[in-house]
Amino acid sequence: MAEKKKAIGLLTGGGDAPGLNAAIVAFVRFLSSKKPELKIKGIRSGWGGLVSDAPSPNCIDLPAYKLDELIFTAGTILLTSRINPLEKENMIENVKNYLKEFEGLVAIGGDNTLSVALKLSQEGFPIIGVPKTMDLDLSGTEYSLGFQSYVEATTELLQGFVVTCKSHRRVGVCEVFGRHTGFTAVEIGLATDADFIIIPEMELDLDLLVQQIVTAFRRKEHALVIVSEGLKIETADQGKIDPFGNELLKEKRIGEFLARQIEQMTKIETRSFQASHPLRGIPFAYDAVMGLRFGQKAAEMVINDEWGKMVALLNNSIVSLPLHAFQPRRIINPSYWQWKFVQFRNQGII
Ligand code: F6P
Repeated sequence: MAEKKKAIGLLTGGGDAPGLNAAIVAFVRFLSSKKPELKIKGIRSGWGGLVSDAPSPNCIDLPAYKLDELIFTAGTILLTSRINPLEKENMIENVKNYLKEFEGLVAIGGDNTLSVALKLSQEGFPIIGVPKTMDLDLSGTEYSLGFQSYVEATTELLQGFVVTCKSHRRVGVCEVFGRHTGFTAVEIGLATDADFIIIPEMELDLDLLVQQIVTAFRRKEHALVIVSEGLKIETADQGKIDPFGNELLKEKRIGEFLARQIEQMTKIETRSFQASHPLRGIPFAYDAVMGLRFGQKAAEMVINDEWGKMVALLNNSIVSLPLHAFQPRRIINPSYWQWKFVQFRNQGII
């Protein structure tokens, strides 16, 4: 039993994102070189690896895992899931029982994963959080793993979409990830010189949208619109609900719906495109390096017994903050530069 107690657990939860493997590599390398006596167990499939009542959790021995050249890869070698252990009494009880066998747990994830971590931490379990979400909607930290790679990959791919829209004299509508916030849409929209950017935080002005498309079309014979999947409009399609109560927005087809509306209102042929899962699997150097920095910091926090805290980026320094700092959700509001720039772009000013 004393032997068992020495393991530190590491899990990745929620959507996979570039930077996760780099964080795992840095965490394992740093911790094993500073504390070679510690066991490091990688829990497979997020909280899913801890919910069963099997005799032992679903784990891999991380120091024994071949970590070379994983830094610049997307996905997560630990696997991930959207399993919510708070959904059922027996699942959370199993998680708590397993956690007694660990000296502590490091959970890398977004709002859903960290909410479970926070709940367990408030009940006295030693937990450290690491921010990951390409939506960039966690408070307390200026960066969450995955954002930059998704933005870069989608921006690059959109060049191809624009070429075909130009050739056919069409309007292109690209729907991007962003469940509650428009951080990805703003970055991608500005970088691709889109004619209109639609984010969940701002009410959609359909007349202005049509006016901007028509103006852009007169000038260059095509137009590009970027819309966040999280835009709150009713579409004919309904997405399935995941265990955390999130609707699978991809199935709502906001972009497709909007494209049809634009075509009807402008009488200009319109095509839509969902920049979804394939774009999540393309790594960029920023996330590889940030993953290394976040993973190293988490290992340092384990060594310093900084349980009940989260890793964060503040003024380009990696710091530790109380775990609850990721709440409430970060959204674009009028004091953010993004708000102003969406207005500039949508009024044709910049
Ligand atoms: O985790 C955030 C996110 O990238 C959202 O932007 C998107 O709605 C969701 O993941 C997609 O999740 P899944 O991979 O479970 O379909």
